[in-house]
Amino acid sequence: MDLGLSGKVVLITGSGSGIGQHMAVAFAAEGAKVAVNDISAKGIEETLRMIEAAGGAGGAAQCDITDTAAVGAMVATAAKKWGRIDILVNNAAVMTQHALFLEKSPEQCDQEIRVTLYGTINCIRAALPGMIARKYGKIVNIATDAARVGQEREAVYAAAKGGVIAFTKSIAREVGRDNINANVISPGATNSPMRNAILDKMRQSMGAERVAEREEKVKRVYPLRRIGEMEDVSNAVLFAASDRARHITGQVLSVNGGFAML
Ligand SMILES: NC(=O)c1ccc[n+]([C@@H]2O[C@H](COP(=O)([O-])OP(=O)(O)OC[C@H]3O[C@@H](n4cnc5c(N)ncnc54)[C@H](O)[C@@H]3O)[C@@H](O)[C@H]2O)c1
Repeated sequence: MDLGLSGKVVLITGSGSGIGQHMAVAFAAEGAKVAVNDISAKGIEETLRMIEAAGGAGGAAQCDITDTAAVGAMVATAAKKWGRIDILVNNAAVMTQHALFLEKSPEQCDQEIRVTLYGTINCIRAALPGMIARKYGKIVNIATDAARVGQEREAVYAAAKGGVIAFTKSIAREVGRDNINANVISPGATNSPMRNAILDKMRQSMGAERVAEREEKVKRVYPLRRIGEMEDVSNAVLFAASDRARHITGQVLSVNGGFAML
């Protein structure tokens, strides 16, 4: 199915690694021009190399999305380079530590909220005026099923993502009249560097055998009996960002193997 993404300009936050990086390459493969945002210059370089190797077009859009002024400058520079921003994917997020709420410091909690919720708000604030002026835009925000059903050891991260969901719905109501769609893609557990880092830490504290047993138990919670892969999330994001989804807005689509059915 042609998603009609060829020539579209897409800005993806946190696309220097993991799921965002996968999306960046997937958008480029569809012929989109990709502004690759991350706080990590190294990550951006890696993604741009991957895009180039696949014959796609991309450019660096480095900044810390918690810095409102820097986000404004990043969006202005990307829009100047490519002419506009058609699609904004808010993917960057931080989970500082996989630990119980009371084991985490207020500073860790602040960072999770600043990047995950305020970062998303900052980018939407910067990109929306151009979309409204052109009467065209797609906003795709990445949440997590932890925000929909609750998750031990992810309380504040999940709260920040819950904020992203609520914000998306309200924005969708505000800018629908401007031909702008805003939706949420909500992954369940997905094999990515972020998840692998959590598993590695668990292996150090619990041992590899117990972590392997735990993984089997986790799979049994998923009706499809598998953990998601990055391309499962990318596929949903590409659809949500396309005109094939033109009559869908303010919605939350879980990509979760049936883990939760809401
Ligand atoms: N992996 C999973 O199991 C899973 C499950 C549910 C939801 N998600 C969501 O999917 C998205 C991608 O997750 P991932 O697993 O690829 O994580 P990841 O940690 O690999 O990617 C996050 C990226 O965001 C960047 N980033 C962090 N702070 C930033 C900042 N201040 N400014 C700009 N960039 C910043 C990081 O450098 C990193 O490249 C996140 O929104 C995450 O919450 C992941």
